Amino acid sequence: MGIAAEIADDWHAALAALTWQVEAGADEVITDVPINRYDLAAEPPRSASRPATPPAAMTAGDPVAAAQAAATAAATLEDLRLAMTAFDYCELKKGARNTVFADGNPKARVLILGEAPGAEEDREGRPFVGRAGQLLDKMFAAIGLSRTSPDSEAALYITNVLPWRPPGNRDPEPAEIAMLLPFVERHIALVDPQVIVVVGNTPLFALTGSKGILRARGTWGHALGKPLLPMTHPAYLLRNPSAKREAWADLLSLQARLRS
Ligand code: URA
Repeated sequence: MGIAAEIADDWHAALAALTWQVEAGADEVITDVPINRYDLAAEPPRSASRPATPPAAMTAGDPVAAAQAAATAAATLEDLRLAMTAFDYCELKKGARNTVFADGNPKARVLILGEAPGAEEDREGRPFVGRAGQLLDKMFAAIGLSRTSPDSEAALYITNVLPWRPPGNRDPEPAEIAMLLPFVERHIALVDPQVIVVVGNTPLFALTGSKGILRARGTWGHALGKPLLPMTHPAYLLRNPSAKREAWADLLSLQARLRS
C-alpha cells in the first residue's frame, strides 16, 4: 500500500475510532500534559475571526441542494468535473486520492454507469481499471464497443454513481447516493447517450429507486428519458462465472437495440 493510500485509510480509521469513543460516552479530551484553562482565557474568542453564521449552502443539512446548484451550473463536462472535484460535502472525498470522473468517448451512444471506484481506480483516477474493469472491457469488446474508440458508433463512455472510493469498498450509503445523484443526472444529460447500461445494484437503485439486479437484469426500462439496460456487475461475474451466460444474453440484447 502506498503512503497516500495509508493516509487515506488512516483518516477513515481515525474517524471510526473517534466515533466509537463518542458513542461509548466519551465527552472530554484528556491530554498527557495538563492544560491551564486560566491561560486559555487570554486567547481571543474564536467567534471574532469566524463568521457567526455559515452561508446557507454550507450548513450541514444542505449537501443535496449544494450538489444540485453546482451540477445545474455546469454547462460542460469539464465544468462538471471541476464542480465535483471542488465539492467538499462528502466525507468519502477526505479518504480518496482522486476524484474519479469518467473515461471513454463523450460522444458514445452507450453510457455505462457503475458503482464507485475501487482501490486501483482511486489510485489511477479512472473508472473500471482493476480486474472487474478488465472484464467489463472484454465483455463490451465482444459486441464491438470500446472506451478507446474514436467512432461514436463503437464507443463507450464510463462513469460511476460515486466519484470517491468508499473505505474498504463498502457499499455506498443511500445518503451518499442521494447527495451525489444531481451530479450523475447532470453528467448523463451532458453526455446525452442513446442508451444507459447500469451495472449492479447501486446504479440501478440510483436511477430507478429499485434494487434486485438479479431479477432486473436483461429487462429494458427507462431512466432520465432514456432506455436503460440493467446488467450484473463484472465483479459479480468474477465471483460467479456461471452468470456470464446471462450477461452474454444481455450484451446481445444491447447489440440488437443499437442495430435497430
Ligand atoms: N466497480 C465500479 O462499480 N466502478 C469502478 O470504477 C470500479 C469497480
